[in-house]
Amino acid sequence: MLLQHERIWITGAQGQVGSAFARMLDTTELDVLLTDRDEVDITNMDEVRAYVEMNRPDVIINCAGICGIAFCEENSDLAYKVNAIGARNLSVAARSVHAEMVQISTDDIFDGRAEEPYNEFSVPTPVSVYGKSKLAGEEFVKTIAPRYLIIRSSWVYGNGDNFVTRLLKSAETQKVIRVQENQMGSPTSAKELAKVIYRLLEKDAYGLYHAVCGGMCSRYEFARRIMELAGKNTEIAAGDEDMENGRPSYAVLDNLMLRLDGIELPVSWETALDEYMKNALKEWG
Ligand SMILES: NC(=O)c1ccc[n+]([C@@H]2O[C@H](COP(=O)([O-])OP(=O)(O)OC[C@H]3O[C@@H](n4cnc5c(N)ncnc54)[C@H](OP(=O)(O)O)[C@@H]3O)[C@@H](O)[C@H]2O)c1
Repeated sequence: MLLQHERIWITGAQGQVGSAFARMLDTTELDVLLTDRDEVDITNMDEVRAYVEMNRPDVIINCAGICGIAFCEENSDLAYKVNAIGARNLSVAARSVHAEMVQISTDDIFDGRAEEPYNEFSVPTPVSVYGKSKLAGEEFVKTIAPRYLIIRSSWVYGNGDNFVTRLLKSAETQKVIRVQENQMGSPTSAKELAKVIYRLLEKDAYGLYHAVCGGMCSRYEFARRIMELAGKNTEIAAGDEDMENGRPSYAVLDNLMLRLDGIELPVSWETALDEYMKNALKEWG
């Protein structure tokens, strides 16, 4: 349960998920600590230890990560350093001050060959360096932090670089954009994911949870809906490759544990996208 004045440390606080969660906590009485790479590099055990000893958080939310699939393939050591060793360092620090450790993870820990949604009991078989490094991060959290939450999400878009913003940027210069039709997922706004993180903390939940918006669609459908909401005429053409940038072709997660624990589910991907686009279009003018 989140208590008033409890101290919450968010790493990767300027990222999509970190900033969405920080915004959510704005109206609470919680004592929120926000850091990014410049303040605390999570790969540096000494920095992490010193920060935790000085600030003694009750909860550590690790929203830091290296997420680009291609970037991780090219920078494998760095991917493991941030996504796995970073999670290990924070778990060690959480253990030393009896804090709860919250790790954000991904559908990329699965190989994307399934034909039905992956739930929390499906066996992970990552194929990319990104997926392997994130799974290694999960393992560290599970084995080191005595009190932990691992929350896997998918196709996240928020305040930052993501599929929605990249597509709209491409639409400024291209008349036709090709997007995979056979890549399936559940687009999830960082805001909906932040709400789930909050609900899980409020309920004192522990363990592994999937948290994605309701329903599923192909990248192609997702792209068409984005263009429609943005009022753009750019044509979205169906592509025919299996993978887009090495992402699993079937990335649909089932929120089984949220359902079993009776925790409010995120809204549908269409509703979340409508809300995001309305706000984004206002902000972008
Ligand atoms: N985006 C998705 O589709 C998605 C889907 C499922 C799960 N996730 C997971 O959700 C988490 C957050 O993702 P996101 O989309 O919010 O990513 P993001 O926008 O790229 O944010 C990641 C943040 O981590 C920071 N960071 C990187 N290396 C660091 C280090 N060594 N020490 C401290 N901070 C560091 C980054 O800072 P810089 O900007 O300085 O690098 C950035 O602020 C990640 O763990 C990711 O694996 C993401």
